[in-house]
Amino acid sequence: TSNRMWGGRFAAGPDAIMEAINASIGFDKRLADQDIRGSRAHAAMLAATGIVKASDAEAMREGLLTVLSEIEAGTFQFSTALEDIHMNVEARLKEIVGPAAGRLHTARSRNDQVATDFRLWVRDQLDAAEAGLEALMRALLTQAEAGADWVMPGFTHLQTAQPVTWGHHMMAYVEMFGRDLGRVRDARARMNECPLGAAALAGTSFPIDREMTARELGFDRPCANSLDAVSDRDFALEFLSAASISAMHLSRLAEELVIWSSAQFRFVALSDRFSTGSSIMPQKKNPDAAELIRAKIGRIFGAHVALMTVMKGLPLAYSKDMQEDKEQVFDAADTWMLALAAMEGMVRDMAANVPALEAAASSGFSTATDLADWLVRALDLPFRDAHHVTGSLVALAERKGCDLPDLTLEDMRSVHEDITGAVFDVLGVHNSVASRTSFGGTAPVRVREQIRAWSERLG
Ligand code: ARG
Repeated sequence: TSNRMWGGRFAAGPDAIMEAINASIGFDKRLADQDIRGSRAHAAMLAATGIVKASDAEAMREGLLTVLSEIEAGTFQFSTALEDIHMNVEARLKEIVGPAAGRLHTARSRNDQVATDFRLWVRDQLDAAEAGLEALMRALLTQAEAGADWVMPGFTHLQTAQPVTWGHHMMAYVEMFGRDLGRVRDARARMNECPLGAAALAGTSFPIDREMTARELGFDRPCANSLDAVSDRDFALEFLSAASISAMHLSRLAEELVIWSSAQFRFVALSDRFSTGSSIMPQKKNPDAAELIRAKIGRIFGAHVALMTVMKGLPLAYSKDMQEDKEQVFDAADTWMLALAAMEGMVRDMAANVPALEAAASSGFSTATDLADWLVRALDLPFRDAHHVTGSLVALAERKGCDLPDLTLEDMRSVHEDITGAVFDVLGVHNSVASRTSFGGTAPVRVREQIRAWSERLG
């Protein structure tokens, strides 16, 4: 039998393979709530504008709530023959309210319907991402507050560079996730326009009220161009782009946690709640959550590339290619939310090993720059010369198998005769971090300012 929605033109029904490639109900059932919200707003608007009778609209609005409760209760029979969530809902509505249900699709197309549903869904996910990012930032802030004074090595090339504070390192991630938050908020503001009423592509001859449906669904305004309204998926791409950048940040932090929790580093202990054991090696405590975050973010990057690729060759307006937007975004959103929650839990629970951090901070000639800076200040050496003298002192310490503070004054003077005992004051890691008071620097006083500013911004 031919399709009940467009059977008028068709004599034969679809081949089973056609049904399999065409149907989206297997995944777009996740849009049920949004679809019903959109249809209820549309029905109310059709009544308010006199396009359908108020009694018919009321019957449809009530019937849609019944459909929603059936879906929520798990009693709804989804049908592949009905292709997608939009036609599944409408067909069931017809069974519940009778012929009046046939009036719901007046002045509407599945093209503006799906664009509206999907925007509502992505908007909800942007709100969830905002909450997830804020929770993670609060966890990082708590760590930063606890360890504003703890010293640890700062790295470049993963080689010891200069001592930094634990708080400073935590706050670096707060800045990154703070920018992610900004991208989420920007994307939400830009995407919050309503496609409903664009109809198939050209608008409609019915006297619809697009302001009303836009308002009803929490949009700031209707999309201004009906062709664009049904063709645009950049709201989804922007979601995936913001998600990708944030996922990259999550992955970098995950990588650091993997390194830090190793027996060689021992910078942090992850909690039992966010670790796993080995089935053979009794001593193992593995950072699986961090590893899985690091690995799973590839799905988000992939979704972004996949949807860019879907969209890049499409002429205006709707093409069925666009049905491929949903699985990518669903999977990326699930992955992002899970990664945010797992990272928040790990960060909240992790225990810094303060003595190990301090010992590591003091090794690897981490205060060599402080020594060079002292030569500039105390002996008025040009920085390039100071750099050279310090390099020779590091080489000397290396030959003696000791660290810079372990050199004697005689050792120092053998490289540069004007060096005095005061030099030893700047070779300690606590002095080193305390001295870096430039704006944005690692000194505890500066870090505490950052913590305070972000705590206020997060409210
Ligand atoms: N399931 C479709 C999608 O997700 C709905 C829109 C169908 N529109 C159409 N003209 N076939 O894109």
